[in-house]
Amino acid sequence: MRYYPVFLDLANQPCVVLGDGKLAAEKADGLREAGAVVRVISSHEYRRGDLAGARLVVDASDDVAVNRESWEEAEAAGILINVVDRPAQCRFIAPAIVRRDPLLIAISTSGESPFLASALRARLERWLGREWGPFTALVGRVRRELRERGVPVAEQTRIYRRLLNSDIRDLLRAGRPEHARLRAASLARNDGNRGGRVALVGAGPGDPELLTVRARELLAGADFVLHDALVSQGTLALCGPDTRLEDVGKRGRRVSTRQAEITARLIELARLGHIVVRLKGGDPFVFGRGGEELRDLVAAGVDVLVVPGVSAAIAAPSAAGIPLTMRGVASSMAVTKAEGDGSLARIRQLASAADTLVVLMVHDKLKLVASALAEVLGPSRPAAVISNATLPEQEVVTGTTRDIAELALRAGLGPPATLVVGEVVAQAISNDLRLVDSAGFG
Ligand SMILES: C[S@@+](CC[C@H](N)C(=O)[O-])C[C@H]1O[C@@H](n2cnc3c(N)ncnc32)[C@H](O)[C@@H]1O
Repeated sequence: MRYYPVFLDLANQPCVVLGDGKLAAEKADGLREAGAVVRVISSHEYRRGDLAGARLVVDASDDVAVNRESWEEAEAAGILINVVDRPAQCRFIAPAIVRRDPLLIAISTSGESPFLASALRARLERWLGREWGPFTALVGRVRRELRERGVPVAEQTRIYRRLLNSDIRDLLRAGRPEHARLRAASLARNDGNRGGRVALVGAGPGDPELLTVRARELLAGADFVLHDALVSQGTLALCGPDTRLEDVGKRGRRVSTRQAEITARLIELARLGHIVVRLKGGDPFVFGRGGEELRDLVAAGVDVLVVPGVSAAIAAPSAAGIPLTMRGVASSMAVTKAEGDGSLARIRQLASAADTLVVLMVHDKLKLVASALAEVLGPSRPAAVISNATLPEQEVVTGTTRDIAELALRAGLGPPATLVVGEVVAQAISNDLRLVDSAGFG
């Protein structure tokens, strides 16, 4: 069955509710809230002809004879009618509602499952806080002003997007409506404050479900997303329909040149007034050059927001069921990388200083790293390599410092891969902590 969704303006319109119980009273209240003039007729008193002149009727009598009669009368007179719980006798159905006046969200499963409709409503209720009401009203006020001033539609749209991506809802949530109003007015005036800004956002290890709520919101509203090569397609699919994607992770040029170009591009876009997300795998501040970008953006006077992400350093062992710390087994951990000058010396130092060692960017260097670790820790220290953690292609190989490189090679593990070394690895295996299949918890 297909329905045509509408919102009816029932202000001062005659409506009838049939029935005597609580449900009938609720239906009448709902219609009155919308401004309707409601007549409630008890099921004993209803006579054919009573519906004459009504715009809309709700039959909540729960009386089969009344239901039949009211349906026939309404149909003959072309009046919209809903006989409660009788889909075949409904010209309209009542949706589940999320109310953030003036914002109103109606949810319908076309009568298939009222349970799903109300479960969805509960989710939306949590997602859309109370501030969405005054926020919608504020955007409405700005819209009227812009139209009065004859601002071109394209410019209006840019302003709405700026309002949506601003901190105005945070201000409203914090009970600061006057600040929110001033902020909206400033963004709408376009008075030099063009509202451009950059968010340095962590995309997590790969599984889009591991993005933070804030990251999802920012992706949905961004004008531009400049992303690394490692960011998964599933994550990029969460960008808004008008978001422009730029892959800045392409190989080829020197790293330093690339970095300077990326920073210059971020500054350029922000100065043009765009909402820009710089999306990086894992956490932006863990081997992600987030620190350098933040420093340069701030120096250029650009508004910057940093949104942490779940680093592969944490997510990869966790996705393989390997705890990084564990009572009586490991109470310290170190994270480092296998690339760059001095990295082997650093790995040796950290291996003897921390109970658990996590090594990123290990792929090509695994053999070298493992043999250095075998010298420091002995050949039998448990070790694991996790590649493509949290993604469907995830693979885990476990062994010891002596054989892990060989085992990973034989298994054909590809990048990106993370190495974990320490007694916790054996602990995870002996407890038969299998890979955590997130789909299983869906
Ligand atoms: C340049 S570093 C960036 C790290 C990132 N900022 C973070 O916090 O996860 C890239 C390295 O992270 C690790 N890595 C990233 N994603 C991974 C994944 N899904 N599985 C395993 N390791 C991953 C690999 O060691 C890879 O070489």
